[in-house]
Amino acid sequence: MIQKNHKIYNTFGLKAVAADYVEYRSPSELKKALACAARPFLHVGGGSNLLFAKPLFEGTVFHNSDIDVKELEYTDDSVLIRAGGGVVWDSFVGFCVDMGYYGAENLSLIPGEVGAAAVQNIGAYGVEVKDIIESVECMDTDTGKIRVFSNAECGYGYRTSIFKKPENKKYFVLSVNFRLSTVEKFNLSYGALGTRLKGDVTLDAVREAVICTRREKLPDPEKTGSAGSFFMNPVVSEAVFSSLLEKYPDMPHYAAPEGQVKLSAGWMIDQCGWKGKSMGRAGVYGKQALVLVNLGGATASEILTLARAVVESVKEKFGVELKPEAQIIN
Ligand code: EPU
Repeated sequence: MIQKNHKIYNTFGLKAVAADYVEYRSPSELKKALACAARPFLHVGGGSNLLFAKPLFEGTVFHNSDIDVKELEYTDDSVLIRAGGGVVWDSFVGFCVDMGYYGAENLSLIPGEVGAAAVQNIGAYGVEVKDIIESVECMDTDTGKIRVFSNAECGYGYRTSIFKKPENKKYFVLSVNFRLSTVEKFNLSYGALGTRLKGDVTLDAVREAVICTRREKLPDPEKTGSAGSFFMNPVVSEAVFSSLLEKYPDMPHYAAPEGQVKLSAGWMIDQCGWKGKSMGRAGVYGKQALVLVNLGGATASEILTLARAVVESVKEKFGVELKPEAQIIN
């Protein structure tokens, strides 16, 4: 069951091999594998948010290949759907749209799998996956016991959850329960989405508009190596934001919890002149400066060198420190 020196797929296109690799389809298979697996452990999804700093992961990499999707129950206006952690995220969105279930459509075409989506709280176009998550079923890999976390227990925030804390890495997501609306309910708060939609607003039309918008701005993971947004949008206090706004009145910004303000990292990187620039074989994507790309054969250290240079520029110009969104392994 444990495979040796297994290549780990990652959308950055970096060379990454796991000393030991386990593909499991059920909780009992995972429990069995855990009994003889060598630490450290790493649980991966679609490899779309990972940067392997070293080519060898000297431990055990686990991947959940439970790809079952099923409706569990209906209420007057909603449906509860259980999806295995290994379900490809966009195929789940496609299923919901085809079935006429509302809530996932704005998250169309985000790379990755259901389990990682619930850890990372993926988001786009005014929606975060936490908005449709009811509960997350995990295995505690220290004890082999199953634990179900309610949405509130997951501690969701912008691109984060309790599962990202070091002490909770022991929880591997087995499956996720989603609550979707069976009555019409759209979120068209993100400007570009509303303006793109002409005519009837339907689930298919929203999915199509999101897919077109993403294709315009983001690289195709099949063609260009990247991890999507490399940095998070920084959240600053109202005071910091006010002084920045005096200097940069056009600065895009969004309200964040507790009176804070979320700034646009892509805009700041762009203002520093990085868009389309490269260092070695690593580049800043020409259509969206928040995305770092592998221009072909880049090493992790080339990408990290570029990332550090970008962070320094933004710090120097705006006094704001960018943090990576991509998870750096090792
Ligand atoms: N902008 C620029 N130049 C750039 C990039 C952006 O001026 O090179 C400006 C845009 O014009 C806009 C603002 O910055 O005014 C925000 O840009 P955008 O709407 O493209 O979104 P983002 O904040 O850069 C976030 C997510 C994306 C998600 C989009 C759309 C993060 C880290 N990224 O990007 O998610 O698709 O919003 O909702 O929050 C991802 O997480 O991998 C990802 C792609």
